[in-house]
Amino acid sequence: DAETGMKTGAEIGVIGGSGFYSFLDDVTEVTVDTPYGPPSDSLFLGQVAGRRVAFLPRHGRGHHLAPHRINYRANLWALRSVGVRQVLGPCAVGGLRPEYGPGTLLVPDQLVDRTKSRDQSYFDGEPLPDGSVPNIVHVAFADPYCPTGRRAALAAARGRDWEPVDGGTLVVIEGPRFSTRAESRWHAAQGWSVVGMTGHPEAVLARELGLCYTSLTLVTDLDAGTESGDGVSHAEVLKVFGANVGRLREVLFDAVAALPGSAFRDCACGSALEGWDLGIELP
Ligand code: ADE
Repeated sequence: DAETGMKTGAEIGVIGGSGFYSFLDDVTEVTVDTPYGPPSDSLFLGQVAGRRVAFLPRHGRGHHLAPHRINYRANLWALRSVGVRQVLGPCAVGGLRPEYGPGTLLVPDQLVDRTKSRDQSYFDGEPLPDGSVPNIVHVAFADPYCPTGRRAALAAARGRDWEPVDGGTLVVIEGPRFSTRAESRWHAAQGWSVVGMTGHPEAVLARELGLCYTSLTLVTDLDAGTESGDGVSHAEVLKVFGANVGRLREVLFDAVAALPGSAFRDCACGSALEGWDLGIELP
């Protein structure tokens, strides 16, 4: 988009997960408000390999926002409003197969939404004052992730000798509690790969704004139905994520460097809203 260059603070967004509160060294902090309320935190703008990047800690600095309380709409809106067109979304997940133990990096290609109470659209069909545009959009979501972003993430991980799992299904639960053993066994029996609490509605809201979105899941634990112990603890999640955050950061740096310029996107993500009469103006 030609318009991007104008108001650009950044073209690539990174939304950090549990235990991931800073990404860039030399940053400008920008406070952004949105029609949906404030995002999780300020945006931290900086550069990686000559690319302008905006980092947003998903749970807020110091982790004060629970997964079901995150204002996902504000987060994606805020990123787009500073020029972001491609988003990398690392997150902590539980493994649903014994071979996906802690430290596994899995770049999913599918998503199952088991959340319950989250605003997951910008297009709620609310009547406009003059009644002209219904503000209803049904985006295609058969393939929830950007193919170019996935390729960049996979190549970046391999380049850092961290062999990633290429593809798999991320099931997103409402939380904030972890799954029961029965739920977890059921998720695994469906053939799903990893379970998390934040991958949705982040992915669909990105799609609704025409943004590329790539999920990078870092396994911090084996989920209750797959392990034999007492189940997952938040302390364990934070510890394992913290132990891997250094190399995850390097992978993200390399992925950022490998993404095409946002004006040269070769995927379909940017045309998700084509043909729809939007009742809102995108930032
Ligand atoms: N995040 C990290 N580990 C998780 C698990 N086992 N279930 C859901 N979300 C998680």
